[in-house]
Amino acid sequence: MSDNKCPLKIAIGSDHAGFALKQELAGALREDGYDITDLGTHSTDSVDYPDIAVNVASAVSKGEFDKAILICGTGIGITIAANKIKGIRAAATSDVYSAKMARMHNDANIIGMGARVVGLGLAQEIAKAFLDTDFEAGSRHEKRVNKINALD
Ligand code: RB5
Repeated sequence: MSDNKCPLKIAIGSDHAGFALKQELAGALREDGYDITDLGTHSTDSVDYPDIAVNVASAVSKGEFDKAILICGTGIGITIAANKIKGIRAAATSDVYSAKMARMHNDANIIGMGARVVGLGLAQEIAKAFLDTDFEAGSRHEKRVNKINALD
């Protein structure tokens, strides 16, 4: 973690395709001091990614978590589903720059990644960029994010 702020409460979730990466990433982030709660899935048995997305995104929407990380095979389906939940701004990301910009310009509160797209090392770097980067509040981006929020 980058500073001495009160640790963010972070949820993580995946479907079966993202299960192995979720396990590894959650462990690595906990070792780095992040407060990670695993909302499943808890095995490689097949599950439908919208069910995981709705569970995790709803918990963020209700304020139970500050941010969340979602993983499926591509990172795409689970992110699309998460964006259906009120208050969620989820970004599917497979590079560090996009993860930072999703926070700075879009105030993303969920990041989606694909276990068939990124390996553990890159997933860690993406997650840390997402978790450690602040939104540029008060900037020109705030009114744009407000327009996104008004679409809910
Ligand atoms: C599951 O096979 C796969 O379709 C899912 O993990 C995800 O990639 C969908 O977007």
